[in-house]
This record gives sequence, structure tokens and C-alpha cells, in this order.
Amino acid sequence: MALEREVAAISSQFAVSDAELLAIAKEYIRLAELGLGTDSMPMTMIPSFVTDVPNGSERGTFLAVDLGGTNFRVCSVTLLGNGEYKLEQKSTAVSKNLMTGSSKDLFSFLAKQVETFMKLHLNDHFNEESSTNGEHILKLGFTFSFPVNQTAVNRGTLIRWTKGFDVVDAIGQDVCLLLQKELDALKLGVHVAALVNDTVGTLMSRAYASSSEALTKVGLIVGTGTNGAYVEDLAKVTKLDLSSAAFSNKHLMIVNTEWGAFDNALRVLPVTQYDRLVDGITPNPGFQMFEKRVSGMFLGEIVRQILLDLCTRKVLFAGPSAELTTEWQLDTSFLSEVENDESEDFDGICKLVEKSLALHTSHAERCAIKKIVEAVGKRSAYLAGAIIAGTLQHIGACSNRSSVDLGVDGSVYAHYPNYSKLLKESIKIILGDDEARVIIGRAEDGSGVGAALCALVA
Ligand code: BGC
Repeated sequence: MALEREVAAISSQFAVSDAELLAIAKEYIRLAELGLGTDSMPMTMIPSFVTDVPNGSERGTFLAVDLGGTNFRVCSVTLLGNGEYKLEQKSTAVSKNLMTGSSKDLFSFLAKQVETFMKLHLNDHFNEESSTNGEHILKLGFTFSFPVNQTAVNRGTLIRWTKGFDVVDAIGQDVCLLLQKELDALKLGVHVAALVNDTVGTLMSRAYASSSEALTKVGLIVGTGTNGAYVEDLAKVTKLDLSSAAFSNKHLMIVNTEWGAFDNALRVLPVTQYDRLVDGITPNPGFQMFEKRVSGMFLGEIVRQILLDLCTRKVLFAGPSAELTTEWQLDTSFLSEVENDESEDFDGICKLVEKSLALHTSHAERCAIKKIVEAVGKRSAYLAGAIIAGTLQHIGACSNRSSVDLGVDGSVYAHYPNYSKLLKESIKIILGDDEARVIIGRAEDGSGVGAALCALVA
């Protein structure tokens, strides 16, 4: 009984009311407008310098690399037109040492991966004399999913790291130049043509491949981190010098919102004691406060903090295990697997808790874990839905009875059961019947195809 009562109390702390969702969407619009006028807002609203959205007819072969989470991916992408493409790729884990070491070590490691990939998949190019002479002939789109101060399509200085990266000497440096220098040192004949946030790539790849009649206006990620990009009216990006020749005849700009940093001041976001504990053990306390309630890197840790608390209060588990007291022990796959277990005796949850936390559970404990996981996952989807609705309101996407298309990617969205249903529920609370005109679909390979499209428009 005590356990049931405690779990109900915790779940209610994670419930987000309609009024709170509406307030979040409203505050999002306020902060987005401020961010379009100045660079000094935490939710940075970064112009991507991509001023065209693809229509599916684009063609050509490009390299794309992707640094944004625990893996570094190199791909060669051939756009075939008709929304079709061919892609070859190789992923390599980025070690904790590289994630927190020097920029020289990190970027030379990245260039080395490009070299290995090219030797394997692009041997012709690799052997061409022009390339070994150092001439840049293959264009590369660099998906770099961290906040940068972007000043051109292939220029951007790193503002800060997120998602556990902490390569201090890279902050303030142009990440395209860091990569170009290491590629040149290996004489690869590759030109870093575009710096791409994964959300921008997601938007581009969805626009390229989507068969929907509606125009794609938003790309978003709910994975290790969370963020969104959208198609903005260029005239509203007032922090840019819009009289510059670079913008003549341009009407739109894809903006990378960096909404992970939405409401760092916690004016409207919900705060529980568990959020505070998680924030306190990150390398960037007080920052990325929206991301820390929504994205995969943090959901597992929020759940672990709750389980540990219940254990300490002696209402859950016979006692703590070393695993339960280990920070970051649970990742999002724990949540998806718990949610996926619909069996009567929760056999899957039983095995999972034994495997990840080395703890035995009773049936009542498994029910409790399931309820907690549902509450944490639902809050994530509801908060993400509120921000999406705010973005759509900001651009008037559903005015004139028009439909709008959104591309989504990321492990939480892809693997968490019901996530898309919950997102839509939350959007409906804010947009009402207009929600029916919001089409949300998976974007395939934003960081590969999307980055190639950015390299092409560059
Ligand atoms: C980064 C964004 C990125 C998002 C999703 C966040 O932590 O700040 O740039 O788009 O993660 O990968």
C-alpha cells in the first residue's frame, strides 16, 4: 500500500496540466522571438544559412559525417532525384577519453575515420591524383549537433558542449576549420562544404523524401538530446544583416532553435526533486533544462533517481545494489523495454531489472516501476509536444486551413512505444482541431542525406 501511495504521489508530480502546456507554448514563442533578434539568449535560434528547402529532385554524390552522440558516422550519399538515394556508412564509437580530451585528438580521430571509410568505399576518389594533391573535390556535409555560432553555411564556432562532451579547448573555435585542417593533413581531397545541425538535416531529408503534399516546415530530434529546426521567414531573423548581398532574392532561412536550452530560468517548466538531482550531476548544471526533462540521455537517470529514493525510503526493493547507486546506470532503452512489456506478470520487467540493476522484484514492484516509467516518458512527450505546437503557432503553420509536415528522428521517438501518440495528444491540447492538419513522420537519415543536401545547396 505504501508503495502504491508513493508511486501515485510521484506520478502526479510528473503530470503536466493543460494550463502548464499552454504556458510552455506561449513562453516558447516569446523566447523564440527574442532569440531571433539577439545572439545572447540561451535558446539561441541559430540561422543555418540554408535558405532553400529541397523538393526531391536533387542529385549528386557527397560525403557526410555526423558527430552528435556516442557514435561518429561517416557516409557517402548519392542523391538520385525523385526523393531517392543510395547510402553507405560506417559508425565508430567515440570513447569517453575523446569526448573529454583535446580538440586535436578528437578532430584528428574524426579525419582518420573519414580516411578509413574512403579507402574502403571511395577508393577511386582516394587514388585520384588531384585528391592526393590536396585539391578539394568531394564536398562534405558536417553534421555537428551541438550549439554553434554559425556565421556562414560552413563556418561556425562552438558555443558550448552538451550530452556529456567536454572538449574544453574546442569552445570558441570554428569546428569546420578544425575538421578541414585534419582532413587536409591526411590529403583526402575533401572540402567541408556545410555545417549542419542534425535537426536541420532532419528537416532537409524529410523535405527531400516525403511524399506528403504538405510542405515540410519542422525537423526535430528526440534522442540522446532534443532540438528542433524550422523554416523561418528571413525578414524575421533580425539579428542578421539582412541588407547583405548574400541574402538578396532569399526569402526563408532554416533556423536551428536549440530548444534544449528552452526556459533555463525555469519560469514554466515543471521541476521535481529528481530533476534537481539529475541536473546536479551533469557537467552543465542550470543549462539545457528542457533537454534534461525530455531527451534520452536523462530519462533513464530520472527513473534511477526515483527508484533509489523509493529504495532509500524502504518502500521498494529489499535494499540497494551497486548498480542502483551508480549514476547514469539506466539508459532510455530501459524505459522503452519496461513500456513494451504488456505481459500479465511483467516477466520482461523482472528480467530487465535483474540485468540492469541486479535486483529481484515482486509483482507489485514491477507494477510500480512500470507506472514510474510511464509518468516520466509521458512528461517527456507532452513537453516536446508543447514546444512543437509553439513552433507551429509561431510560424502560423495551420492558418488558412493548410497542413504542415514535420520530420522526426532520434532514439526516444523511434523506440519508445506510444511516444508519437502522446506527442499528438499534447499538440492537440494546444492547437485544438488544427492538430489534425499536423503530419508527423520519421525522417530517414537526416544526418546523412540531410547533410548531403546541405552540402549541395552550399
Ligand atoms: C544539441 C543540439 C542537437 C540535439 C539533438 C542537443 O544537445 O545542443 O544541437 O540538435 O542535442 O541531437
